[in-house]
This record gives sequence, structure tokens and C-alpha cells, in this order.
Amino acid sequence: MDEENEEKKLWGEVKRMKRQLLILSMVLVFTLVLGVGVAAAYTISSNIHGGYTADTAACGQCHSTHAAAGKNLIQNLEAGTQNDVYRTCVYCHKSGGQSKYDVINGAIVTGTGTYASSAGGFDQVVTTEGATPVFAAVTSEHDVDAANGTTVWVPGYDTNAGNYMELTCASCHDPHNTANTARALRVNVNGVDISATPPTLDIAAGTVLGDEAVSYQSGWNEFCGACHQDFKQTGAGSGDDTALGTYGSFARHRVGMDPSLYAGTNENSWTIATLSQPSPLMPLQSSDGTAANQQVMCLTCHYAHGTKATNTVTFNRADGTSTSTSSTLLRLDNRGVCQVCHNK
Ligand code: HEC
Ligand code: HEC
Ligand code: HEC
Ligand code: HEC
Ligand code: HEC
Ligand code: HEC
Repeated sequence: MDEENEEKKLWGEVKRMKRQLLILSMVLVFTLVLGVGVAAAYTISSNIHGGYTADTAACGQCHSTHAAAGKNLIQNLEAGTQNDVYRTCVYCHKSGGQSKYDVINGAIVTGTGTYASSAGGFDQVVTTEGATPVFAAVTSEHDVDAANGTTVWVPGYDTNAGNYMELTCASCHDPHNTANTARALRVNVNGVDISATPPTLDIAAGTVLGDEAVSYQSGWNEFCGACHQDFKQTGAGSGDDTALGTYGSFARHRVGMDPSLYAGTNENSWTIATLSQPSPLMPLQSSDGTAANQQVMCLTCHYAHGTKATNTVTFNRADGTSTSTSSTLLRLDNRGVCQVCHNK
């Protein structure tokens, strides 16, 4: 048993070393090809997925002109049964990939250690940061790794099967970042034009190359609400109005309001570690105070990629069915997110 483990460990080590050599050479190639250092400081305009020059070679990283493997002339960089886009993106955004962002494990991997990414991960999240990181499996995530052509229902959107969607990394991110947004997020989402209110975020100075301290600035309810349209209810008292929604009529919790002004919520200062938030784990929009109003947004309660939170609550889905099997990307176990604000 021990011997077998030892052998596995050794084999793992060899594979790791081989991979590191490979990565080293790939990083070099990538740096030359894109003309940008992999460890460039965070500014949106210098981000890797946009601002291509007229004589760019970068297209060839992801596309093949006469011998592509998938739709949109995509090269499947990674082997597997997942959709083409996923296999293109995670080639670089995985453990040991060319980017510091390993989205499969929800990690930011830097020279000084491994940190938890603010979006969470698709398979795992980081529970202990540092030189010897600890990971935990996710309990729910946006399902982006289905095979080509798999369509799914979007909660809070059209229940007509003709409007189910194929969910991929490119449903939310624009690989070319033509709109020059934070995190290369799309401004045309699910056919909805949100370019007037693009999602914006800041990363605190000094944390860019490591433990990125993200503060969400604006546009987040519009971004998530472009797909989950019925859930974006911003009117006061929406929790009393059972007629809300285009695709299904229910009363829904409001978003887009300043919770410190509401008598029913905790009378905290709402400022923790210089950010305005009801708990260290639950950010409000405009949480670093650079914009006028702190607001409740989708990401106050949810992660964007995946969570390790547990759930035993049976709840109603927007299609009228009920389930207890999903932790719905929540930041805290069960309905811990409610108590943080309401403390009943
Ligand atoms: C990081 C990977 C990546 C790079 C680099 C890249 N693309 Fe793409 N491209 C994609 C993916 C993925 C899609 C499919 C998007 C989707 O499914 O919505 C795509 C789709 C396209 C499309 C069709 C859809 C559209 O947006 O019009 C065109 C045209 C295109 N790419 C051109 C280019 C050119 C030109 C370059 C170089 C300047 C380039 N791409 C660089 C990944 C990439
Ligand atoms: C050839 C390698 C490569 C591929 C393929 C690739 N990326 Fe990236 N990506 C990078 C690098 C490098 C960075 C810059 C961050 C860093 O230094 O690691 C980055 C950054 C990002 C960021 C953060 C941008 C920001 O403003 O902070 C997002 C989001 C992203 N990639 C999404 C994608 C998606 C979606 C795909 C698939 C369509 C994809 N990437 C494919 C290498 C790649
Ligand atoms: C491009 C469309 C799209 C966007 C944008 C989008 N989602 Fe989703 N979301 C989906 C689809 C499709 C599903 C159902 C499939 C699945 O669970 O992955 C889903 C499922 C979910 C679920 C339920 C997961 C579960 O396990 O039951 C939550 C929670 C969620 N999304 C939150 C968000 C939040 C928060 C944002 C904004 C950061 C967002 N979504 C943006 C398409 C989208
Ligand atoms: C439902 C929309 C959605 C989908 C699908 C999605 N992302 Fe993201 N992604 C986001 C949002 C929103 C953020 C920023 C959230 C934050 O910082 O909390 C983000 C952040 C990122 C980042 C920045 C680093 C980090 O982890 O925070 C990278 C890189 C990235 N995504 C790549 C990917 C790749 C690759 C895929 C597919 C495997 C993917 N994303 C699928 C919405 C999405
Ligand atoms: C970030 C703080 C915050 C969190 C987290 C939060 N709430 Fe609220 N809640 C508010 C605010 C602010 C209002 C007032 C909304 C308005 O102005 O109509 C409110 C309103 C309500 C109401 C009254 C609705 C009405 O219109 O009469 C109920 C019930 C409620 N919340 C339940 C919950 C539950 C259940 C959860 C957990 C899923 C939750 N809240 C999480 C801040 C929060
Ligand atoms: C106050 C906390 C809170 C906020 C803010 C919030 N959610 Fe949720 N969300 C929850 C909880 C709790 C659940 C679990 C199901 C339930 O209790 O209804 C959930 C469930 C979901 C689901 C799965 C529902 C289904 O029918 O399967 C989606 C999708 C979702 N939220 C998207 C969003 C989007 C998009 C926003 C922003 C417009 C948002 N949420 C804002 C707490 C919140």
C-alpha cells in the first residue's frame, strides 16, 4: 500500500517536473507571441485577451484556419469530452497551465503561493492559502464542461425549450475582450445588450500579483440578470409582490438597494477590512466606497464560478419544481447569507 502510494507520488513528481519544463517553454512562446509578460500588472487595457495589434499572431493560440477541430475554427487545445470552448480555455486556466488563474481549482497561483480566487472554482476551491494550499470540492457550479451541443434551462429565464442555452466559458467571457471590460466579461450576454452598464471591478493595489482583493463596482445585477432575467428585481417591496417576472410569477428578494438604510437589517457599520460589506465573505457592490452607493447585488450572496458551501434546505426553483440537491453557488452554508443581514 505504502509502496504503491510512494510510486504514485514519484510518478506525480516526474509528471509535475515534466509539466513545469513544458510550461516554462510554453510561457516563453506565449510571451513572445502575445508580446505581453504573463505577470503584467492588472489594468484592463493591457489584459491578455484583447488589444491585439494589427500584425498579431495571437489568433493562432486558439484558432486554426484550415484545420480546426470545432465550431468558430476553434482548436481543441486540451483532450477530453467537454465542449470545444472549455477545452480551449482550461488549457491555460488549469493547474500548471500558462495563466496564474487556475479556474478548475479556484486558485491564483503565483511565485509566492496559491490564493483563493474571488470567483470560486469549477471543481475545487482553495480553503487554506499559501505555500501548501488546501482545497475542497465544490458542491455547485455553473456547469460549463458539458459536451458540445448540450443545452440547459436558465433559472429565471424562458422555460420554452427552444430558448435553452449552451453554457460555456464564452457565454460570460469574451475571449477577444473587444469591449475591454474587467475580467474580459461580455457586454452582450444571452442576446441582451448591457454595454451601457458593463460589469466593473477593482483589484486593490499591491494585491494584483498575489491575493487579489477584488471590489465589485457596478453593473453586476445587470450582468447576471441578463440570463437570470426574472431575478433582477430592483423595486422596493418586491418581496411582497407575487406577480413579478416575465417567465414565471413570484415574489422575489430585492437587489440594487443599500441595506444599511433598511430598518430590518443589522445595524453594523458595514465596513470590514476597508470594504463595505455585511460579513467578510459577503461583498456589496461599490464596496470600496469609490462609487456613491453600496448595494446588494447577485455576488453579495453567490459566487460566479462555484462554491463549497453545503445545503440541506429544500427550496423552490423558478420552474416550480423543488430540490435540496444544490448549494446554488451560495457564499455560506444553507441560508447563512440571510442571517448575516437580518439576524432574526
Ligand atoms: C484565447 C483564445 C482565443 C484567441 C487568442 C482568439 N480567439 Fe477568436 N474565438 C475564441 C473562441 C472560444 C470563440 C468562440 C466564441 C463563442 O463560442 O462565443 C472565438 C470566436 C471567434 C470568431 C467568431 C465569433 C465572433 O466573435 O465574431 C472570430 C471571427 C474570431 N474568433 C476571430 C479571432 C481573431 C481574428 C483573433 C486574433 C486577433 C482571435 N479570434 C483570437 C477564442 C480565441
Ligand atoms: C494560451 C493561453 C490562454 C488561453 C487559451 C486562454 N487564456 Fe485566459 N488568460 C491567459 C493569460 C496568460 C492571462 C493573464 C493572467 C495571467 O497572467 O495569468 C489570462 C487572463 C484571463 C482572464 C482575466 C482577465 C482580467 O482582466 O483579469 C480571463 C477572464 C480569461 N483569461 C478567460 C479566458 C477564457 C474564457 C478563455 C477561453 C476562451 C481563455 N481565457 C483562454 C492565457 C490564456
Ligand atoms: C450566459 C448566461 C448566464 C449568466 C450571465 C449567468 N448565469 Fe447563472 N446560470 C446559467 C445557466 C444556464 C444555469 C443552469 C445550469 C447550471 O446550473 O450551470 C445557471 C445557474 C445558476 C445558479 C444555480 C446553480 C445550481 O446549481 O442550481 C445560480 C445560483 C446562478 N446561476 C447564479 C448566477 C450569478 C450570480 C451570475 C452572475 C455572476 C450568473 N448566474 C450569471 C446561465 C447564466
Ligand atoms: C456565468 C458566467 C461565467 C462563466 C460561465 C464563466 N465565468 Fe469566469 N468569471 C465570471 C465572473 C463574473 C468573474 C469575476 C467574478 C469575481 O471576481 O468574483 C469571472 C472570473 C474569471 C477569471 C478571473 C480569475 C478568477 O478566477 O476570479 C478567469 C480567469 C475566468 N473567469 C475564466 C473562466 C473560464 C476559463 C471559464 C470556463 C471554464 C469561465 N470563466 C466561466 C463569470 C463566468
Ligand atoms: C446584504 C443584506 C441582505 C441579505 C444577505 C439578505 N437580505 Fe433580505 N433584505 C435586505 C434589504 C435591504 C431588504 C429591504 C428590501 C426593500 O427595500 O424592499 C430586505 C428584505 C427582505 C424581506 C422583506 C421583503 C418584502 O419586500 O417585504 C424578507 C422576507 C427578506 N429580506 C428575507 C431574506 C432572506 C430569506 C434572505 C436569505 C436568502 C435575505 N433576506 C438576505 C437585505 C438583505
Ligand atoms: C440575499 C441573497 C441573494 C441575492 C442578493 C441573490 N440571491 Fe440568488 N439565491 C439565493 C438563495 C438563498 C438561493 C437558494 C434558493 C432559494 O432560497 O430561493 C438562490 C438561488 C438562485 C438561483 C437558482 C434558482 C433556481 O430556480 O434554480 C439562481 C439562478 C440565482 N439565485 C441567481 C441570482 C441572481 C442572478 C441574483 C441577482 C439578480 C441573485 N441570485 C441574488 C440568495 C440570493
